[in-house]
Amino acid sequence: CGIVGYIGFREAYPIIIKGLKRLEYRGYDSAGLILFDGSDLKLSKTKGKVSDLEDISKEITLNGNIGMGHTRWATHGVPNDVNSHPHLSNSGNLAIIHNGIIENYAPLKKELIKRGYIFHSDTDTEVLVNLIEEVQKKDNLKLGKAVQVALNQVVGAYAICVFDKKNPDEIIVARLGSPLAIGVGENEFFIASDASPFIEYTSNAIYLEDEEMAVVGLNKPLKIRKIKDDSLVDPYVQELKMNLEQIEKGGYDHFMLKEIFEQPSVIKDTYRGRLHANLGLIQMAGVEDNLEKFLNAERIVIVACGTSWHAGLVAEYIIEEFARISVEVEYASEFRYRNPIINKNDVVIAISQSGETADTLAAIKLAKEKGAFVFGVCNVVGSSISRETHAGAYTHAGPEIGVASTKAFTTQITVLAMIALRLAKAKGTLTNSDFHRYLQELELIPDKVAEALGTNDKAKEIATIFKDAPNCLYLGRGYNFPVALEGALKLKEISYIHAEGYPAAEMKHGPIALIDEHMPVVVIAPKQGHYDKVVSNIQEIKSRSGKIIAVVTKGDTQVRELADYVIEIPDTSDALSPLLTTIPLQLLSYHIAVMRGCNVDQPRNLAKSVTVE
Ligand code: G6P
Repeated sequence: CGIVGYIGFREAYPIIIKGLKRLEYRGYDSAGLILFDGSDLKLSKTKGKVSDLEDISKEITLNGNIGMGHTRWATHGVPNDVNSHPHLSNSGNLAIIHNGIIENYAPLKKELIKRGYIFHSDTDTEVLVNLIEEVQKKDNLKLGKAVQVALNQVVGAYAICVFDKKNPDEIIVARLGSPLAIGVGENEFFIASDASPFIEYTSNAIYLEDEEMAVVGLNKPLKIRKIKDDSLVDPYVQELKMNLEQIEKGGYDHFMLKEIFEQPSVIKDTYRGRLHANLGLIQMAGVEDNLEKFLNAERIVIVACGTSWHAGLVAEYIIEEFARISVEVEYASEFRYRNPIINKNDVVIAISQSGETADTLAAIKLAKEKGAFVFGVCNVVGSSISRETHAGAYTHAGPEIGVASTKAFTTQITVLAMIALRLAKAKGTLTNSDFHRYLQELELIPDKVAEALGTNDKAKEIATIFKDAPNCLYLGRGYNFPVALEGALKLKEISYIHAEGYPAAEMKHGPIALIDEHMPVVVIAPKQGHYDKVVSNIQEIKSRSGKIIAVVTKGDTQVRELADYVIEIPDTSDALSPLLTTIPLQLLSYHIAVMRGCNVDQPRNLAKSVTVE
C-alpha cells in the first residue's frame, strides 16, 4: 500500500492525489483520502484506482490544509469501498491510514466488540483505529501517547498516519516494517511511503526507522520517539537526490517501456566509477572494505524474491564460474522459515530493487542473528534493506515505477558480475587475460543493449502473432536458464498468459508433453555457451510442431533454419549474455500486454513493493 499525508498551508487535496498517483505502484485495488476543512472531516474512498477516487471526489468539496490518502493492496478483506482506507474510529473523531498487517487483529477485535465497538469493514486497520480510541478514552491520553500504547499491544507490521479532528494541528505517524518518509518543508510537512510525492516541494526528508513514531505538527518541533521505551531520537534529515523527471514518463506510453529503454544508460551509471577496464580495476567500496569476509567465505547464500531472485540465479552461475565460491540462491520467504544452516563464515547477499520487501528483510535479520555477514544489493538509496545490511552496493537504475521489473534486473546483474570479477581478481581464479576481457566486454554492454533495443519492431511483430496464446514456454540453458524464468515471469505478470521457464534440457522431463502446434516456445540460443545442445532441444520442439521463437546471436544461420521467428542480438561472452538476451523478452511481453489491453504498469493483483509477508 502507499500512504500520503500533508499538513501545512497549501490545499492538501491536489498534493494527496498527485502523491497517491506516484505511489500507485505500491498497490492499486482501492484508494481513499480524508481532509480536515477546519471544522469537520471529509472522507472519500472507493474500490479502484486513484483516478476513480478523483472521479468520485469531484462531487464533494474537498478542501483543507491537512489530510491524508491511501492506495491499497488488499491483505485483510476484499478490495471494496468499505474496506478502503482511511478508516474512522467509532466516535468518528479519529482517522487512520495503514500500510502493513496487524497479525493479532482477531483477539483485539473480539475484545473491542465486547466493549461495544462496532466494525464496518473486514480490515485489521479498523481494529487498530478503534484500539487507539479505546486507549485514548480509557486513560484520557493525548493522541500520540494513545497511539504508542496501542502499538505496543499490536503484533505485525505497519506504517500509519493517525489524525484526531479534536486536535487538528498534528498527524501521528509510526513505522514497523513498512517504510515511512517525512518531507520537511517550511511550515509544512509531507508524509509518504517514499519521497516521490513530495520531491517538488522539498529535498529534505527524514526516514523513520522501525519502531519509531513521530508527532508531525505545525508550530512545534518534530519529535521522534521509540515506540517501545519512549526514548527520544534525534531526527536525521537527509537530502534527496531524486528529481522529478526521473519519475515521469518522458514521452513513453508506459513507465515499463521507458525503463526498458533506459537500460543502456543505467547499466553505465551502475558501473561508472567502479569499473575501469583500461586500468584493469574494479573498485566497489562495500566489497573493498569487506574483501576478507568475501575471500574467507566458504559459501555465499543469496536471498531475494521475484525478479531479484532471478538476478541471484544468474549471479550464482557467474560467481561460481569466476570466483569459484560455492553459491546457493534461496527465496527469502523459504529461507526465513526453515531454520537454514548459516555459519559465521558465510556471506549472505540480499538482492532487492525496492529494499523494502518484507520477506527479504526478515531473511537478512535471521542471517545476521546467525552471525553471517550480510551484503545488500539494492536500488533504493536509504531503503530498509540498505540500512539493515552490514554493507552493500547500490544499483543505479533510478526509480523503477513499472511494476514488472526490467532495468533493476539488468543493473543487479551488472553489480553482481562486478563483485564476481573483483573476487576472481583477488583469488586468481580467472586468468589475467580473461579478467581483462570481461572488464572490456562489460564496458561494451550498454552499447550492445542499445543495439538489442533495436529488436523492438521485431518483438512487436511477433507479439501480434502470439498475443492470443493461452500458454507459452521459455527455455534456456546455463546463464540463460534464469533468463528463461525471467522471460516467463514478465509475460505472466503483465499479460496474464500462463508461461513457464525451464532449463532447455529439462523440457523432456515434462513440459514436452504440452508441445503442439499451438504452443509458442521461446528459446534463448546465443552462440556462446551450450549452443549445440540448445539446437538439439529446438529440433525436439520442431519435431512436435511447436512454434519456435528464438533469440540468437547476430549472423546465426543454424537456428534460423529451424525457428519460426528469430530475434537477433549482438554477441558477447556467455556469462554476460543475460544482459542482452533479456532485452527482447522484456519487449515481447510488453507488446503482448499492450495488444491484449492489459494495464502494463499496474498489472492486476500485483504490487511493486511487497511490504507484507
Ligand atoms: C514484487 C515486484 C517484483 C519484484 C519483487 C521483489 O513482486 O512486483 O517486480 O521482483 O517484488 O522485489 P524487490 O524490491 O525486493 O526486488
